[in-house]
Amino acid sequence: MSSAFEHAAGRAAGADPLPHTELRELKQLAEPDAARIFVKCEFLNPTGSHKDRVFSYMIDQLEAEGTIRPGQTLVECSTGNGGAALSRVCRDRGYQAVIIMPEGMTEERRKQIASFGGTIIETSQDGFLLESEDTARRYVQEHPGSHFLDQSTNDLNWKSWRSCGQEIVAELRARDVVPDHFICSIGTGGTFTGIADILKQQYPDIVTTAVEVDRSAALYAKRHGLPFEHHTHNMMGLGPGKVPSNLREELVDRVELISGDDGWTTMKRLIAEEGLFVGPTAGGNVFAAQRLARTLPPQTVVVTVLFDSAWKYFSVWEGQYPKYSTGDSATTR
Ligand SMILES: Cc1ncc(COP(=O)(O)O)c(C=O)c1O
Repeated sequence: MSSAFEHAAGRAAGADPLPHTELRELKQLAEPDAARIFVKCEFLNPTGSHKDRVFSYMIDQLEAEGTIRPGQTLVECSTGNGGAALSRVCRDRGYQAVIIMPEGMTEERRKQIASFGGTIIETSQDGFLLESEDTARRYVQEHPGSHFLDQSTNDLNWKSWRSCGQEIVAELRARDVVPDHFICSIGTGGTFTGIADILKQQYPDIVTTAVEVDRSAALYAKRHGLPFEHHTHNMMGLGPGKVPSNLREELVDRVELISGDDGWTTMKRLIAEEGLFVGPTAGGNVFAAQRLARTLPPQTVVVTVLFDSAWKYFSVWEGQYPKYSTGDSATTR
């Protein structure tokens, strides 16, 4: 049975491979005298986000190695996209999904997870994802037979992104284009790592930039010897409050920061001017790519990723999450 929250362009239910997503060159947001920007349209995946790639791969691998089998309950922490992707795979393949989510995520995300039959357990806004992870660990202890997938530490997450890296290479080659830069923001770090891994193998001179939201920039703090403070923010999916262990730090050449406003403003430009119906973290990636492109000669090539879909944010369209301020609250970690 399909759900209203499932993109028609998605694959049929079952174990068919995900469709390849488009690699698009920006036209309206490209600036004269700046580098070219190519965007990988992961928001076009079946549940409207890049996380479909992670959970179809993870379930395939874990089933093949005999770690999980249909009938089990699979547990994951998520700000919503991973929860929706996992719940959909569970619906199609005979598992139950339990999604542990910090309070205050958008109602679109909660409804989408429920539409696939996933059960949501909310944790506190202050504890954010670190508290969700503790809760998930406790849940599996208290529910024998359930399995915590843990996209934050499970290296099947970043490995699932190699297919995306290979698609980017194939699409660039078909156009006779060689990329000079890859720039991408990090949450679990899976997307950045898997794509950077492939691009660095294929293009040893490529320069990679990991992007963090300024209010929760653990890697930036580590690289610059600064104390790290996690502040609440409005770039859901980024800034989990730690350097994620799915980020292979040796693949990161540079680290840059963006603000929530950068992401939300650029998201609206992508919708209005490019017809790309994406969310704020995709906007953040393009903002950072444009900033980088301005420092490079024309004809240089920058590649980035469009993570998720705009409709997931209709209820917070001005970028204001009632529970997540962009003011001064901070937690030192
Ligand atoms: C909207 C959004 N953007 C970006 C990311 C970051 O992706 P990754 O976890 O692969 O670093 C996430 C992760 O949940 C997300 O949901």
